[in-house]
Parts: sequence; C-alpha cells; structure tokens
Amino acid sequence: MATPTKPFPLRLAVPLALALLLALAFVADFLVSPTTTPAVATYSKTVTNISPGLQGVERRRKKGNNAKRVEILNATYADLPAPRWDWEEMPAAPVPRLDGASVQIGDLLYVAAGYESLDHVHSHVDVYNFTSNTWTERFDMPKEMSNSHLGMVSDGRYIYAVAGQFGPQCRPAVNCNFVLDTETREWGELPPLPVPRYAPATQIWQGRLHVMGGGKEDRHEPGLEHWSLAVKDGRALETEWRSEIPIPRGGPHRACVVANDKLFVIGGQEGDFMPKPGSPIFKCARRHEVVYGDVYMLDNGAKWRQLSPMPKPDSHIEFAWVVVNNSIIIVGGTTEKHPLTKKMILVGEVFLFDLETSKWSVIGRMPFRIKTVLAGYFNGWLYFTSGQRDRGPDNPTPKKVVAQLGDDTLAGLDGDLGVKQCQRAEGTVTLNND
Ligand SMILES: *[C@@H]1O[C@H](CO)[C@@H](O)[C@H](O)[C@H]1NC(C)=O
Ligand SMILES: *[C@@H]1O[C@H](CO)[C@@H](O)[C@H](O)[C@H]1NC(C)=O
Ligand SMILES: *[C@@H]1O[C@H](CO)[C@@H](O)[C@H](O)[C@H]1NC(C)=O
Repeated sequence: MATPTKPFPLRLAVPLALALLLALAFVADFLVSPTTTPAVATYSKTVTNISPGLQGVERRRKKGNNAKRVEILNATYADLPAPRWDWEEMPAAPVPRLDGASVQIGDLLYVAAGYESLDHVHSHVDVYNFTSNTWTERFDMPKEMSNSHLGMVSDGRYIYAVAGQFGPQCRPAVNCNFVLDTETREWGELPPLPVPRYAPATQIWQGRLHVMGGGKEDRHEPGLEHWSLAVKDGRALETEWRSEIPIPRGGPHRACVVANDKLFVIGGQEGDFMPKPGSPIFKCARRHEVVYGDVYMLDNGAKWRQLSPMPKPDSHIEFAWVVVNNSIIIVGGTTEKHPLTKKMILVGEVFLFDLETSKWSVIGRMPFRIKTVLAGYFNGWLYFTSGQRDRGPDNPTPKKVVAQLGDDTLAGLDGDLGVKQCQRAEGTVTLNND
C-alpha cells in the first residue's frame, strides 16, 4: 500500500539518499553574458577533441612578435574524482531563480528573491513542502527588501533577511534588514547595518544575528567587518549593531553555518561584477575575482581559527549547504576561472566536512555542475533547487540564458533606479526611496 508520507522509494543505498532537482527545466544562466564577452578576445580559442568525451582548449599566446606557445588544457580540468549519484527530478520551482536565498524550517523550504534574468528580479517567496513534495505557497516580500545577494537565516519560526542588492543588474548593495514571522506571514524591520553589504555571511549564533564578510556597496571590494545584533522572537533587542572581531578574509558567496555551537564561514571569493561606470541601468561589468576554499571558525567569539580548506576553491555556496549527522555538506558552486579561457568554472561535487575530525571529503556528484543552489535536507534526502548549471558534461562553463522576460516587465523599474538605503535617524529606521 502506498503511503502518502513516503512519496518516493529509495532507489539506492548511497549515504544521502539523493535528491531532487526542483528547477532543472528553468535554470537561468544570464550571468554568463558579462562573463564571456570581454577578455577572451586576445586569445584564439578553438575547441578540439583531444580524447573521446573530453574537450581541450587550445590557446596560442603571442609573446611580442616571436615565439608562439601552445597550451592544451582539459576543459574539465577542475573536476575532482567523485562517486556518481543518481538524482531524482522533483517538481520544478515556480520560477527560475539565481542568487536568491533560502531557509528550511521543518519540512518547508522557503525560497526567496533572486534574479529571473539579469533584468528582472523576484520580490516574493516560494515554499516547497518536503513531505508532500510540492510547491505549496507563494507570498510577497516587502517591496523595499533586496532582491538578490541577501543574507538569510531562521531561528525556527522567524526568518531574518539581511542587506543584499535591491533591483536588477548590478545595482549597489543596501543595508536594509527584514524579518518574517512564518506563522503569521507578517514582515517587520530590523535596524539597518552600519553600511551596505553585498552577499554577507549571515547566521544566528548564541542569541545574536551575526553578519560578516560580503562585498562592500560596490559589490566588488571585500568587506572584513563583522557585526552582531541580539534578536529574540523576531525582534531586535538592541537599536544598533555591535562591532565584532573582523573576519580575516572578506568577500561574498560563502557558506555560513552554525553547528555544534560553532560558527563556520566556508569558501567564497574576493571581487565580483560591478556596475559599469555611468550606466543608468547599473549594467554589470566583469571584474577580477579570486575564489578561495578557506574555512574560518569562531569558537569563542573572540578569535577566528582557520581550519583545513575545502578540497578546491569554492564560491557561490551561500545556501548550498546542509548539516547532517555531525557533518556539513556543500553542493556545487564555482571554482577558480579557467586559466586559459578565463571563463567561470562551475563545480559539480558534493563535499563533506566532518565536524568531528575537521576533514573534508568528496562524497558524490551533482547531476551537473551548478552554482548558487538552494539546498535542503529532509528525512534522508538531500534536495536542491534553482541556480545556474553548466553547458554539459564536457563543458563546465555556465550556460546561456534560457529564461528571460520581455522588456515590458522592466517598465515599472525604470523610474526607480536609485539605490534604496535604509537611513538611520536617531535610532529609528525609515525607508527612503530616493
Ligand atoms: C546518519 O546517522 C544515522 C545513525 O548513525 C544513520 O542511520 C543515517 O543513515 C545517517 N544518515 C546519513 C544521511 O548519513
Ligand atoms: C581531463 O581532466 C580529467 C579530470 O581531471 C582527467 O580525468 C582526464 O584524464 C583529463 N584528460 C586529459 C586528456 O588530460
Ligand atoms: C507538508 O505537507 C504535508 C502533507 O500534505 C502536511 O501534512 C504538512 O502539514 C505540511 N507541512 C507544513 C509545515 O505545512
């Protein structure tokens, strides 16, 4: 007899029974255009089959006028050996989503914000129920809340949403913070951060909401600052954020996890796309990025300890982690750029950090390389949804745009291009639309 509480059979006995893929059909990939257009122009790039199923990229480097050096590099050079996992495809998310945010509370995964395309961002939350395996609900975010690259964490009932980017393309970061009561679906505000922050590492630890690292207002310059705010039942117990010990390395797109009463900040990068100078739509322009696999742990609040790094540099993993059985599991991401083509290289491995031994291992493989997924874990199953996937098994670079809305959807945004900042006036928070 089929039981409704066990909606799918365990097909394999792999450790983490596998998975689901909520938005496969919709994976959007628009951030590629700024990635691929410039910079490669100085190279002549031909893709040649150098062995069955593998592709190499040949590049001629001109040194002055003389010697040409030819290098061959495997397009999949960055993949680590990993066991294959069989994944199961689940109902696609209602919308494509990149650089959104998610938190899991019980059997619900709240999936918020995100780009639908580079010119269109979401301002709502979709909810997935792991028991029924269906998308069950959709509700709005406050219209002043950032639409991508926000920090997000839950205490089990309240969801705290921190800073991020308001609006499409590469608009500057903001400092506004919000809180949702998931029982009443009511939103409130929290004191703004002292300064704007792009994709900050965010967690609740020992009764305080911690926000650290991330990018500065321009999205590019790494921030080292670390603040905390006492919170309880969806309310701030203080009017201002407290400065904490800065994190040794700054930058966005890191996993931030509390496990065994320790706060971990894992992976990330320095640098990111910036608004093109003078562009009225804050068009994204590529900048130098350094991806790293550093792991920092705050065990007493006064000192950061550096632990063994990830098996390879990994970024775009802010919501791509779960804690299972005394381990942190991280899925996908991006690693260092391809040394020859300079293209972004996506990550397809599933990494495990054993909290007992502080050691990393590669335990499995995603169905494809993918960055910025939103992950959850329920009842023995690892789930992920959304993100930006690769071009195929032999090509780890991000795929072209597959979901884009017409320009007419932008009309409402055109008159409102300014940066939205929360302004602090004598301890009170007001939202300023200019
Ligand atoms: C977690 O540990 C329990 C008890 O040791 C085990 O039964 C279960 O399979 C483990 N789960 C995963 C996902 O490894
Ligand atoms: C390409 O990279 C993969 C993964 O590192 C490796 O297994 C393979 O041997 C490489 N192929 C060539 C032709 O170098
Ligand atoms: C998820 O769905 C199941 C099955 O429909 C339901 O019993 C459960 O209450 C739902 N979870 C929540 C938190 O609403």
